[in-house]
Amino acid sequence: MQQFAQNLGPVSAVIGAQWGDEGKGKVIDILAEYFDVIARASGGANAGHTIVVNGKKHVFHLLPAGSLRAGKPVVLGAAMVIHLPTLLEEIKMLGDAGINIVPQLHIAPAAHIVFDYHNEIDAALEKQRVEERGQGIGTTKRGIGPAYMDKAARSGLRMESLQWSDDVLQKEIALRVKEASSLYGISGDAKAEWSNVKQAKDLLKDRVARNTAALMHSFLKGKQTILIEGAQATLLDLDHGTYPYVTSSNTTAAGALQGLGLPPRTLTSCIGVAKSYCTRVGSGTFLTEADEASQQRLRDRGGEFGATTGRPRRCGWMHIPDLKYAAMINGFDCWNITKLDVLDTEEEIFVGVGENADGKVLYERLPGWKSSTEGVRSSEKLPLNAQNFIQFIEKNTGIPVRLIGTGQAREDMILRSS
Ligand code: IMP
Repeated sequence: MQQFAQNLGPVSAVIGAQWGDEGKGKVIDILAEYFDVIARASGGANAGHTIVVNGKKHVFHLLPAGSLRAGKPVVLGAAMVIHLPTLLEEIKMLGDAGINIVPQLHIAPAAHIVFDYHNEIDAALEKQRVEERGQGIGTTKRGIGPAYMDKAARSGLRMESLQWSDDVLQKEIALRVKEASSLYGISGDAKAEWSNVKQAKDLLKDRVARNTAALMHSFLKGKQTILIEGAQATLLDLDHGTYPYVTSSNTTAAGALQGLGLPPRTLTSCIGVAKSYCTRVGSGTFLTEADEASQQRLRDRGGEFGATTGRPRRCGWMHIPDLKYAAMINGFDCWNITKLDVLDTEEEIFVGVGENADGKVLYERLPGWKSSTEGVRSSEKLPLNAQNFIQFIEKNTGIPVRLIGTGQAREDMILRSS
């Protein structure tokens, strides 16, 4: 693995190819050991991944997976939107587990603050969509869209404001709550918002002092290696995803570089992460969505319930055109195919390969392997039909599969030679 990580070069990104929840956290957790700096660029507490600290499971939304590698700088980039109580909670959870993340945390002064009133607006807009159009986006209701709305309207409050005086900051918050209440008819609570911000200010004031783009460049100059954790995934990208059923940030490799202030040409490699089947939470097109019985099986075996919202995920089959599209947008060098073992009991593996003239999905039906691949650690030890499935992905996307996830444990990852 060390050799593989070294070959990725000094700046590597891990990006989801589908609608999120591909299991990016695991490969990041593994690779983080070999990189000097861990960086997350965009999105907010809509993301969710489970990290096991000293045998105890924690769900994190803002801190990147891999931020637990002692002493390594962790960067939260400028394109992020940060809900301060959530961040404080995550810092506390780590503190309880004996890890003080604060000194290694660098938060972009330009990242935006998500207030509770953004959550209220998010819920109000979703309700309105459902009432007027019969269907919402199915957001995570974490205030993501409204926070980015404020950002685009140039009226948001950024993390740099934690450096302002209490008086000024409190006044600015009150103004925004008042404005949001009159625009959206939400209740808002300026006092509670201020109390949250004050707590964060006391702890994190110094952590937002430094321009993180300049910091990233100093890492580059000092020959430190950087691992970029993509949040959400390509098909949820605001520009290139399945609009309007997308999130409000740029989830691609280019979006990550933009969020961190790194020139595009500094990226030396990009790993695409795709689940060996496919899931989606929220509304929107899902061409390869499976029949109810298959969905149930995949959901149960894959534990497909949202880490952020607990919602059951819609389940279906891998769709090669989506993988090719994501590879095209991001410039993937290789695949990490995750959760192969979830398919262990399938009689047949369906893979969407295209559409007919009526827009109906065409499937390739590959024979299942009907035996356990859980915990298999080398490619040759996989059942032949599982090897064929991996080769099928490789052949049809034109991108090598270098990593295969075969279980929950950190060690359950096959490294395939190229
Ligand atoms: P929002 O980002 O909360 O506004 O939600 C917009 C859409 O993106 C919804 O369909 C969400 O379910 C989806 N989404 C946002 N973040 C994630 C994620 O981390 N994993 C999977 N889906 C996500």
